[in-house]
Amino acid sequence: MTTLQRYMPNLDRMVRVDRQDFDIAANWKVVAEDGIDGYHVFLSGPAHRAFGRFMDGHGLRMINRPDWILLHAGPGSPDSGVYDYRSNIGKGQTPDYVTFFLWPDLLIFTFPHVGAVWSFPMTPTGPERTHEEVVAYTPGGCALDEVTAAAVRWMAEVLGPEDVALNVGVQQGLRSPARRQGRLLIDAARGDMSEHAIHCFQACVLEALGRLPAGSAATLLSPPTEVG
Ligand SMILES: [Fe+2]
Repeated sequence: MTTLQRYMPNLDRMVRVDRQDFDIAANWKVVAEDGIDGYHVFLSGPAHRAFGRFMDGHGLRMINRPDWILLHAGPGSPDSGVYDYRSNIGKGQTPDYVTFFLWPDLLIFTFPHVGAVWSFPMTPTGPERTHEEVVAYTPGGCALDEVTAAAVRWMAEVLGPEDVALNVGVQQGLRSPARRQGRLLIDAARGDMSEHAIHCFQACVLEALGRLPAGSAATLLSPPTEVG
């Protein structure tokens, strides 16, 4: 909670103001991995690539903690086509891009210089189906300022649908007979292209299923010295 409030100082008085529902033809773990993955931002569709410029995508840090993962990047260019945050500098929750993944199935995130935070539970409704409620909250339920409204709109109408299509494509790929498994690539520097957060998530899954001994995921936590 303390770490959450560092980036979302009004967290304890947030009230729901907007909700978008998505039904995704993909397993919930596919959706969860998307939320904690850094490199797909640069390699997916135009909305993702714009987002990689909008935040400092190559400066993205993914920090594994017990039962939660933090993704954190400073702001990038306000001219990336996502939304122009310049009139909101100093007024939002944080100048940064921040996502918290709370094991096993909840994302809480916010974008640079907006007055809102979002929650994003990933509810399994079948082996290859997930229901998402992307809910936006503002302090006390106050009306969305122009910049925050633009962020809510972009999330609901641009990035959200592109992410859904991406998840469906990944699920279809998992069904391919061409491969049975792949390797996660971990960068020694744990940089923006590294899959160490997904590695930790998968270890949590396997531990929960009894396929790895208890404590396996704990060996993949980030050093306490990493800013989180
Ligand atoms: Fe994505």
